[in-house]
Amino acid sequence: MIRESIALSCPVCAESLEAAGSPARVLSCPAGHRFDAAKQGYFNLLTGRGTTFREDTPAMVEARARFLAAGHYAPLADALAEESTAVVPGGIPRILDAGAGTGYYLDTVAGALEATRGARPEAVALDISRFAMRRAAKLPRTRALVWDLWRPLPVADAQFEVLMDVFAPRNGGEFSRVLVPGGVALVATPLPDHLAEAIGPLGMLSIGAGKEESVAAALGPAFEPLRSREIRTPLRLSDDDAVRLALMGPAGHHHDEADIRRRLAGSPLPDVVTAAFRLQVFRRR
Ligand SMILES: C[S@@+](CC[C@H](N)C(=O)[O-])C[C@H]1O[C@@H](n2cnc3c(N)ncnc32)[C@H](O)[C@@H]1O
Ligand SMILES: [Zn+2]
Repeated sequence: MIRESIALSCPVCAESLEAAGSPARVLSCPAGHRFDAAKQGYFNLLTGRGTTFREDTPAMVEARARFLAAGHYAPLADALAEESTAVVPGGIPRILDAGAGTGYYLDTVAGALEATRGARPEAVALDISRFAMRRAAKLPRTRALVWDLWRPLPVADAQFEVLMDVFAPRNGGEFSRVLVPGGVALVATPLPDHLAEAIGPLGMLSIGAGKEESVAAALGPAFEPLRSREIRTPLRLSDDDAVRLALMGPAGHHHDEADIRRRLAGSPLPDVVTAAFRLQVFRRR
């Protein structure tokens, strides 16, 4: 049975975390731990906890939002939507997007499920970047939480029918805990040749492409592999697109727009750059 709402758990004491207000402005637990919404509507559950992780900056998040809005990675979003409508058990599922970024893929998947199942799924978006969660908080029926995926997730056991992880860390133990048995995990990773033509000219760090088996190993024995497909899509990038592509990734921590434009002037991109993704679908046993 699919319930109406998603039970969150307090990141300090693990008791239940309840929302007050509509839209919620406060999350609090019976022990008195309390988290106020940021004015953009997301909740930062990492307050007061040091993290060594460097969050994506506003400029990086802006670059990602604009690059994705131009539709360059729409074939991946469509594939995620197709798999979710085909594989997710009937009813209105609840979705967790782990490392959701701006929420672009979550919006596509939730929209596709809404179109086929008749109501918009409830969702939780988790990301360590506050600037990403500002944007994800705008999606309908989505609770956007700043959190570190390597810590125990701030949700009760068995709360989701769908988990999405698109180019984000994979915490298999926690993913299996928060999915219902029979729930589905959709995991996207870059293939080894993803953006190969652009890495040199844009000064991008080449992304450590996880092998198919290593994704399965990271998820662990609770996940049965159902499907795996490759998605290759030719990108025709303007200079502005290319700058956004460079700034939205880890290179955005090390280079600014002027650096990238200088590089592009010296070594322009070829007419076509290939994006190459793998999408793996798993069932929680
Ligand atoms: C390559 S981006 C992908 C974002 C989004 N899924 C997309 O494809 O547009 C990776 C995301 O993972 C987030 N991330 C990285 N490490 C994280 C961690 N330990 N906990 C939570 N989020 C993390 C980053 O902030 C970033 O938004
Ligand atoms: Zn608490």
